[in-house]
Amino acid sequence: MTDTTISAEQRDRLIAAACAARGRAYARYSRFQVGAAILSEDGRLYTGVNIENASYGLTVCAERNAVGAMVNDGALRIAAVAVCTENGVTPCGACRQVLSEFVDHESDIPVWIIDGRGEVRETSLAALLPDSFGARHLT
Ligand code: THU
Repeated sequence: MTDTTISAEQRDRLIAAACAARGRAYARYSRFQVGAAILSEDGRLYTGVNIENASYGLTVCAERNAVGAMVNDGALRIAAVAVCTENGVTPCGACRQVLSEFVDHESDIPVWIIDGRGEVRETSLAALLPDSFGARHLT
């Protein structure tokens, strides 16, 4: 169960934004296009795509680029995430950790996963990253 109430309209907007962003992925090496969208707690919407590089290890995932857009705009709290790919995969481990930095550890947020046919399934960040490490563990 997630904590924040998100309207059906906000959810649909977030999902549409992630899928539209996917078309802008810069994925010339893997050809695996990813679009991500973040709804901030104050209702703003941010998108990101994966940006690959000829030096492969410098690739940045869509989710982390969406986090960058959010933080750069002055928002620091995530209410929900949507990720769109051809085969409906969930965010990688690194992205789960980066997303969790901006979610209160006593809360959970919905993560909507969309595939190339527009099929949507819902999971949550706590389900994807149980027993997470965060700022509260630093002394
Ligand atoms: N990728 C993402 O953008 N997000 C993920 O959570 C998993 C992987 C990208 C990185 C790379 O450009 C391509 O997908 C294949 O790994």
